[in-house]
Amino acid sequence: MGDMLGEGAFRRVYAHAMDPELVVKVEAGARCFQNIIEWSVWQEATDNLRRWLAPCVAISPQGSVLFQRRCEPLRVSELPGRVPSILTDLKISNWGLFQGRPVCLDYGFIPLQTWRLVKESWP
Ligand SMILES: Nc1ncnc2c1ncn2[C@@H]1O[C@H](COP(=O)(O)OP(=O)(O)O)[C@@H](O)[C@H]1O
Ligand SMILES: [Mg+2]
Repeated sequence: MGDMLGEGAFRRVYAHAMDPELVVKVEAGARCFQNIIEWSVWQEATDNLRRWLAPCVAISPQGSVLFQRRCEPLRVSELPGRVPSILTDLKISNWGLFQGRPVCLDYGFIPLQTWRLVKESWP
C-alpha cells in the first residue's frame, strides 16, 4: 500500500502502491461491513446510479479490503445541487471528483428509510 489518503469512522484509505488509479479501503473494526455493503451497492446499481458513485474494482474474499477508483478532492462549489436520495451521509469528505464529475466515495451506509406497507395479493 502507498500513502494513507484519508480515514473515516470505519475505514482507512490508502493509495495503491502500484496503480495510481486505485485506492485500497481497509476496514478497521469488526462487524461493520461497510466495504461489503459498498461493493454490493456498486454491483447492483444501474448505470444512472453508478454515475454518482466512485467505481468499485475488486474486494477481498472476506471483505476487509476493497479496491476503488481513486478520486480527487473537490471544493464546496463543486458539490452537486441534487443527489440520489439513497445517499444520506452527506458531507464533503464523502465526495470526490472522478473524471471531472462529483461522485460519492462513501456509500457503505444505505439506510432502510424508504419502505412502506403495500397490499399483497398472495398466489
Ligand atoms: N475512492 C477514493 N478516492 C480518493 N480518496 C478516497 C476514496 N475513498 C475514500 N477516500 C478518502 O478516505 C476517507 C475515508 O473514506 P470513507 O469511504 O469516507 O470511509 P468511512 O466509511 O470510514 O467514512 C475519505 O474522506 C477520503 O478522504
Ligand atoms: Mg466517510
